[in-house]
Amino acid sequence: MDNQVDEIKQKLNIVDVINRYVPLKKRGHNYLACCPFHGEKTPSFTVSEELQIFKCFGCGKSGDVFTFLQEYERIDFREALTELALMAGVVLQKSEFVTQEESKKKVLIEINTQVAKFYNYLLTSHVLGKSALDYVQNRGITLSTIKQFNIGYSPENPELLINYLTKKGYKIPDLIATGTFGQSQYNSRLYDRFQGRLTFPLSDYRGRILGFSGRILPTSKNQNSAKYINSPETEVYKKSQNLFGLHLAKEAIKTKNYVLVTEGEFDMISPFQSGVKNIIAIKGTAFTQDQLQLLRRFTDTLILALDSDFAGNNAAKKSIELADSMEFDIKVLILGDKYKDPDEAVRSDLDYFKKQIDLSISVWDFIIQSQIKANDPQTVKGKKEILSVVLPFLVKIKNSVIKSDYFQKLADELNSSHESIIEESQKYLSVQPALAVGRLSPSITPNSETNEPQDSIKTQKLEQLLLTLVFGAKNPAKLSQKLKIQLSRLSDHRFQSIAKQLLEIEDFEPKNFESLLSPEIRPTFQSIYLDSTMSQTESHQRLSEIKKTITQLDSFFLKDRLNFLSHQISKFEKQEKQLELVEAEKEYNKLLSELSKVQIKKS
Ligand code: CTP
Ligand code: MN
Repeated sequence: MDNQVDEIKQKLNIVDVINRYVPLKKRGHNYLACCPFHGEKTPSFTVSEELQIFKCFGCGKSGDVFTFLQEYERIDFREALTELALMAGVVLQKSEFVTQEESKKKVLIEINTQVAKFYNYLLTSHVLGKSALDYVQNRGITLSTIKQFNIGYSPENPELLINYLTKKGYKIPDLIATGTFGQSQYNSRLYDRFQGRLTFPLSDYRGRILGFSGRILPTSKNQNSAKYINSPETEVYKKSQNLFGLHLAKEAIKTKNYVLVTEGEFDMISPFQSGVKNIIAIKGTAFTQDQLQLLRRFTDTLILALDSDFAGNNAAKKSIELADSMEFDIKVLILGDKYKDPDEAVRSDLDYFKKQIDLSISVWDFIIQSQIKANDPQTVKGKKEILSVVLPFLVKIKNSVIKSDYFQKLADELNSSHESIIEESQKYLSVQPALAVGRLSPSITPNSETNEPQDSIKTQKLEQLLLTLVFGAKNPAKLSQKLKIQLSRLSDHRFQSIAKQLLEIEDFEPKNFESLLSPEIRPTFQSIYLDSTMSQTESHQRLSEIKKTITQLDSFFLKDRLNFLSHQISKFEKQEKQLELVEAEKEYNKLLSELSKVQIKKS
């Protein structure tokens, strides 16, 4: 197995593989892009052809071509293996790569696909689905849309479907594991969770059917049950990781570079059918981090077409804060009081809906405006009400300049001052930090007696910087000889082994060098080496930076050593160890004069 992994790695170039998913730009030694794993607008996602790894200097994610594909496609190692083997033209020994878990997932998706086909057939071509078909068509959904979304109808009698599936050879436990079927406790008969409902397959962004949602029909006997029900979490369906419609919308989202975010199935399908194809539905819940990361691959702009009172709920606040922190531009499409949701708007007045997309406003403007409209900004009560809804949103804006702009806007609306808004906003911020401070251990609070830990952190940073500067030079091995003293006394053990290795070689070649290091040190080296290839320092500038870094390191080193020696000296004095005392005092004086030289250099 490992052999096959190695073979695949050898045959593939990580730059080519990643480039299929994220367009890379060459910069110096490396390739750069905006990170697909976190939101950003300036690229810090780096791919090293030499080391065959990627690393994002923004979010810290790093790894090889396998890690990349696993993270990007949200698949496990086995699935990545299958895909990469295909790309590399390596034939895998089947018995080796199909795990139980993988084949189980495959079966569940297969059953789901069969179920969707069956439901769809019933809706479009069977007399049992007739009234359901009338219902969808009355809602303006065409037959071709029904096909495209694979919309269906689950008959009141579940046996039809269960027989269909068992005849195909699927096992009862697997049927239950899809979440669509349950077993009655009384007579242990199987039932279908979506019985009598209109059904929508829930797919992942690649179009694999993971589960279903089902809408009640007006003709249903059981009008008291929920309007919509969804598959439970299963081995394949994870609600928080998928978005309704994304598999059909992703290309349009990329092209238009924004995505319309709606609440429900029909709110997504109606506009889509009318040509607004860059649209998804979150199905009545808040955004999760996973969902936003998924969208971030296709666009950095969200236009929310949600219920008009969404600002009032906490879930929306969380979603917006999360999206803002991932550097999404967030806008709001206003349907006013005219229409309840996008589905209604599109069916009544498509032009109006499209016009409202163009007129969508920033989410912060929307929140301020909607609160000004709902409350009287001239009264004390109104002002308080407005502040209590708006400020929790505004204080979370990541970009300080934009935050300050909106504080000013709010101040203007309330006839108040920027300062008072800031003062008021402190109240909403002061709630959380109290806890965090309490958790800090005393040794790392700034005013603790010794500042040792901070010095050691500084030293570590300086040592890393020194190595980065050295590896960035034309000939790191040669340069290292000139810095032998400093490089041999690095305090961090990882840096120590890297420096030691560097001092031992004559020519530096990154991949070779990496193989000389012990495996646990390699990630540290990769990160330092990538760092070094990122900066475009000129060689004279590099030398002066090296000198500066060394001066600082020297001063830390000398102070540390002097500290130690002074302890030694007083100990030897007490023990009356003359010989040792003389030696220690000699070294102490020597280092002291070195330190004063270093300090002159520093100033
Ligand atoms: N929803 C759900 N479970 C419920 C109610 C709603 O999963 N019990 C999800 C559905 O995806 C639904 C969305 O939340 O589409 C929004 O709910 P709602 O506004 O109540 O319904 P509409 O989308 O307007 O549904 P319809 O147009 O079919 O009446
Ligand atoms: Mn609706």
